[in-house]
Amino acid sequence: MRYGATLIPGDGIGPEVTEAAVRVIDAVCPGIHWERMDAGMTAYEAYGTPLPEKLLESVKRHRIALKGPLTTPVGKGFASVNVGIRKALDLYVSLRPVNTLPAVKTHHDGVDLVIFRENTEGLYAGIEHEPVPGVVESLRIATAAAWSRFVKHAYEWARYNGRRKVHLVHKASIMKLTDGLFLDIAREIAAEYPFIATHEILTDQLFMDLVLDPTQFDVLITDNLFGDLVSDLGAGLVGGLGVVPGANIGDRYAVFEAVHGSAPDIAGRGIANPIAIIRSGAMMLDYIGERRAAARVERAVRVVLEKGTHLTGDLGGKADTRGITDAIIAEL
Ligand code: NAI
Ligand code: MG
Repeated sequence: MRYGATLIPGDGIGPEVTEAAVRVIDAVCPGIHWERMDAGMTAYEAYGTPLPEKLLESVKRHRIALKGPLTTPVGKGFASVNVGIRKALDLYVSLRPVNTLPAVKTHHDGVDLVIFRENTEGLYAGIEHEPVPGVVESLRIATAAAWSRFVKHAYEWARYNGRRKVHLVHKASIMKLTDGLFLDIAREIAAEYPFIATHEILTDQLFMDLVLDPTQFDVLITDNLFGDLVSDLGAGLVGGLGVVPGANIGDRYAVFEAVHGSAPDIAGRGIANPIAIIRSGAMMLDYIGERRAAARVERAVRVVLEKGTHLTGDLGGKADTRGITDAIIAEL
């Protein structure tokens, strides 16, 4: 054993796709000890809490986790465990690369976007209450401290990775205080990066422009809720939720997960596309410095897509989860 990682199989298709990712990662980087931890509905039934303390302790010990999707009850029941994990581990950056993959049928070629989403505040934090019956309130809290560390992280990433264009995505025309604060802080940070061109764009205009020509964008920096929305739009631009990976990063810990959810409509049938979580696993390898192993996984995924003989249903093929995973491992 060289080191460990927490594995959260998750709900729905989670266990199917995370096991596929573990097989691929074990093939390029043997000897990682996977500590499996329940969360969500499974944990709630076993331990009376959807987010057990020992799961958080496990991630704190290993510093890294690969996480399957968790089902969030809609409109009632326990709060989102995904949001809970991000808060508890202070994973304030959500990083989602959205890029064109070979042979995946899409409307645009040459998409290469990176979405940075603030992960702890804003409307997505879900701080809601009912001050009087029939009146409900949702609080969009934004702090200078949270914006500042998040935007700095995004610019540092852009610099290190040679990205030359950043769009600050906001709705400060309407939310003058909360998004105004974002722009004030981001402009100050942007000034420290004269070699990166910074633009500002309204969220609604960004959505239209992304649909018309996504190749004009490079790095997008935005708030928690807008980032959630634009991530799924981005996924749609490059082949759907089955292929887009993601990371939640803080100063100490990082949790890697696909953008997609638990897909109850196809769960348990062994047909889900594991590519999104496999690529999230590659991001995890990259994060700990196993860059060569990460690049090998990414390459193998591209070769399998290019050959097109072992694609899952969402990509127009007939392979099941195991079939496409075997094909990726064979290309490593
Ligand atoms: P979803 O992403 O689970 O499914 C949307 C559609 O995409 C479905 O038709 C599904 O079959 C398809 N799909 C998703 N992933 C796929 C894959 N890997 N291969 C093939 N097809 C795939 O989104 P939905 O239905 O809105 O949410 C279902 C549950 O997942 C909800 O409880 C939601 O709260 C939760 N969720 C959890 C997330 C997380 O844990 N990070 C993220 C998003 C949703
Ligand atoms: Mg989402």
